[in-house]
Amino acid sequence: MDGNGRWAAKRGLPRTEGHNAGEEALFDTIEGVLDLGISWLTVYAFSTENWRRPQEEVDYLLGFSRNLLRKRLNELHERNVRIRFIGRREQPVNSGLIKEMQEAEELTRDNSKMTLSVAFNYGGRAEIVDALRSILNEFSNADGRSDNSATACQDLRITEEDISKYLYSPDMPDPDLVIRTSGESRISNFLLWQIAYSELVFFDVLWPDFRRRHLFEAVAEYQRRERRYGGR
Ligand code: FPP
Repeated sequence: MDGNGRWAAKRGLPRTEGHNAGEEALFDTIEGVLDLGISWLTVYAFSTENWRRPQEEVDYLLGFSRNLLRKRLNELHERNVRIRFIGRREQPVNSGLIKEMQEAEELTRDNSKMTLSVAFNYGGRAEIVDALRSILNEFSNADGRSDNSATACQDLRITEEDISKYLYSPDMPDPDLVIRTSGESRISNFLLWQIAYSELVFFDVLWPDFRRRHLFEAVAEYQRRERRYGGR
């Protein structure tokens, strides 16, 4: 959800106003996703790299996300939306927020219209590292050789399916479509493993101006693409 800061700067407003304005963009997009019958949406809310921002903005983003979750949780639940969080659930994310994330997941776990997956304290590389750590952990525990992960590593026949299975949200299908806003043409550590064959669509529009009509445009563009997955 990129471009909040620039949206605010263009209006002579503080960056935080750009993040505030991103809320309407997000909920209009969710409506569009529900209209289209798309079953999974993942939004990048806070990256493992976003901690490098000035403390004031980091604090704002954490508080803003928490308020948004509190304010909109019931509405999402009523709309039959299942909420998931992907990312590292550890400090510096505070334990109160982690608890509220878990409660939101618990409350909505049986909802079936769509899954809203929120990438929070998320990094694609961190996710792959965490998956490998879990695999090694499980292997060495099962094998009683917890002190010898080098041997474990050699003996392991790790497959792509194994790695997929140990990602934060193993039942998440690989995304068909990735949309990046604000004129940036890069991936920025988003779902690195899962987007190997995703179709990428880039928009110049800044996130706070993004609406469901942009989503529909992106889906129309997706439908014009031919997906070959490396074959012919
Ligand atoms: C990037 O714009 C935006 C963010 C780092 C925050 C986006 C987060 C939200 C809209 C809240 C979502 C929360 C939940 C719980 C779903 P930027 O600040 O990098 O903008 P710039 O590139 O113009 O500087």
